[in-house]
Amino acid sequence: MSVPAAKSGGLGGGQARHVAIIMDGNGRWAKKRHVPRALGHQKGVEAVRALVHGAAGLGIEVLTLYAFSTENWQRPEDEISDLTRLMKRFILSDLDEMADNNIRLKIIGDYSAFTPDLVELIERALERTKANTGSTIAVALNYGSMDEIARAARLAAAKGAITPETIAANLDTADLPPLDLLIRTSGEERLSNFLLWQAAYAELWFTEVLWPDFTADHLKQALDAFAIRERHYGGR
Ligand code: IPE
Ligand code: IPE
Ligand code: MG
Repeated sequence: MSVPAAKSGGLGGGQARHVAIIMDGNGRWAKKRHVPRALGHQKGVEAVRALVHGAAGLGIEVLTLYAFSTENWQRPEDEISDLTRLMKRFILSDLDEMADNNIRLKIIGDYSAFTPDLVELIERALERTKANTGSTIAVALNYGSMDEIARAARLAAAKGAITPETIAANLDTADLPPLDLLIRTSGEERLSNFLLWQAAYAELWFTEVLWPDFTADHLKQALDAFAIRERHYGGR
């Protein structure tokens, strides 16, 4: 994945091929309702499920979802185990349908850090969907951009010169189209170590909506906003 060459004329963004989402606000969703934080995460997974269905007709080739960051290990152990349990349950309940819908699952980040049973389920899901040719759902698990860039730089150095191109070719996203649109929910306007390199020329879209309340209609709103953004890539 590289930065596209400058296009002249400042054309509108058109159809977004690669959209990424920082799915934030599960905790606040639960707090607002005076329910356990785990329920916020559970509703968050339900929002993912609905979005994977809802995104089908929107022409997106790749949807990259930030599910667990390298910094999220700092959370209490019981929250980490709730999240792990939800990830396992999601794969068990939704893999068949994703596979049947020709969706390819991809993981960015070092998922080997999770419990062996989750690692095994992830590998089964990757194997099962690897030949699928429809859209790609890339899930960021134990993902941090700084870690990813450091790993990519090490790989590039081992093979030869370190240049923007050789680093990009060794990122976890190397096989994906350039990032067009980066969405963050819950009113926070920061990247939190997500796709720092890839976001160099992505369009950013923020919403106050908390992740469990995010629907395909919100995604459509973001895509409509993207379609009329002028992108220059430093050109004119
Ligand atoms: C996002 O929701 C989910 C993960 C980071 C795993 P949060 O848990 O960060 O929710 P808030 O930000 O506390 O509301
Ligand atoms: C970013 O959200 C990580 C995910 C959505 C997985 P956080 O809630 O962890 O980010 P900060 O700590 O508020 O920046
Ligand atoms: Mg948060």
